[in-house]
Amino acid sequence: MNILFVVSEAVPLVKSGGLGEYAGSLPKTLASLGVDVRVMLPAHEEIAGGYRCKFREAVAGTLKMGGELQHWRLLEADVQGIHYYLLENAHYFGRRGLYGYDDETERYVFYCLAAALAIRELAFQPDIIHCHDWQTALLPALLERDAQVGNYAHIPSILTIHNMHYQGKAEKAQFRRWLGLRPGEEKGLFLPLQENQAGSDKEWVSCLELGLTTASRVTTVSPSYADEIAEEPLGAGLSHIVRQRWGGVRGICNGIDTVSYDPTGDPAVPYPYASWRGKRLNKAALQRRLGLREDAGAPLFAIVSRLVWQKGLDLVISLLEQLVARGIQLAVIGAGEAYYESVLHSAATQYPGSLSVHTTFEDSLARQFYAGADFLLMPSLYEPCGISQRIALQYRTIPIVRLIGGLKDTIVPFDPLTGQGSGFAFEEYHPEELLAAVDRALQTYHDRNRWDALHTSIAALDLSWQSSASAYLSTYLETVISSHTS
Ligand code: GLC
Repeated sequence: MNILFVVSEAVPLVKSGGLGEYAGSLPKTLASLGVDVRVMLPAHEEIAGGYRCKFREAVAGTLKMGGELQHWRLLEADVQGIHYYLLENAHYFGRRGLYGYDDETERYVFYCLAAALAIRELAFQPDIIHCHDWQTALLPALLERDAQVGNYAHIPSILTIHNMHYQGKAEKAQFRRWLGLRPGEEKGLFLPLQENQAGSDKEWVSCLELGLTTASRVTTVSPSYADEIAEEPLGAGLSHIVRQRWGGVRGICNGIDTVSYDPTGDPAVPYPYASWRGKRLNKAALQRRLGLREDAGAPLFAIVSRLVWQKGLDLVISLLEQLVARGIQLAVIGAGEAYYESVLHSAATQYPGSLSVHTTFEDSLARQFYAGADFLLMPSLYEPCGISQRIALQYRTIPIVRLIGGLKDTIVPFDPLTGQGSGFAFEEYHPEELLAAVDRALQTYHDRNRWDALHTSIAALDLSWQSSASAYLSTYLETVISSHTS
């Protein structure tokens, strides 16, 4: 089976968060199941020269975007056993930064338009195009249109939602201009772009909405998030489509790349180790590097996260004083919203030796956080799946999480009576609840027998992609079969 991932980021080429981690690791496991899976992403400026120089031109072309002629080239190369395609265009992608520009929606609408053309020219013939998030959610509609009006073979598409809150919105008129749609042409496939019905004042539409209404199938990254997006507020205004068109969507939890994230052989980890006892030297090294008090007994908490509102940072910020008063050290790494970066930086000056904040994301330093910390804090407001909690477990670092979305599906609260579980958890988004979970975590931390039992329990977990990759494979097969019979 041939699968083409079309996505906005993928490790090791370029990553801003969990999506890049996902798109760089799931294909490797799918490949081991016999799937020929290839990955397309924009030729972002951030892609290091060492990778860039491997790529050669596969196909090239031009297209009109809102009346402007744009040239594009599709480059290809094998990287770590996976075949990658990079879509190159100087105007939209010849700049640093994956997201956040004023013309963000336009950039990715262009990416989808160019991808739809490039796919038709490739020697590789995908059975399914697998799209991810709003950035590539327009592609299913474009593929459908090409099949209907352009005499092209129909290629089924899957849209996986990694985050319902980012949607790629624009005014309807703007979308029509970008796509070069003449009045009335949007009937059918581009349904959400139709003129407003009397009484409706909805002038805006999003790429994600267009994707949800046209993809052959939709999935998301955990069963709990699948339930949550079928309702508001986590449906972010689109829950009615999730319910009406799909009757709910399939949720498949993310795994991690257990070869890349392996504390016994990770080159970023100063002192390789297999069990929690081996973390001691890494903890001391991390404390030294971050200017934290070098104290083996102080519980060291880490946050490895994009610093955005979704991540529950407000809860942590409101509790800093209580955490420090308990002797806890906190190390934060991640980039994100200016507000959180500056609040955390100024807090760090208030608690020297106890709080360290690093607001540029460095992969190897993040790995040292996982290796050196005792706990990972992840009190998210919402969390489609979350990958950090699973990487943490792989590095024998105990997650403290809010039971929401994928965190609920991947972390089982530790039960001291049975010795089973994989972390500490709370339900209500409230500082007191988080603090109570922290206190439960500390009790176990200070009780050697319980701490040992918890670590024995997590050592037995399967964090790999194996079972989830099989679930994707069965979804692919079902999608191909139903597209042949419909
Ligand atoms: C997004 C979500 C995160 C998920 C990741 C990969 O970053 O916020 O929960 O793990 O995508 O699916």
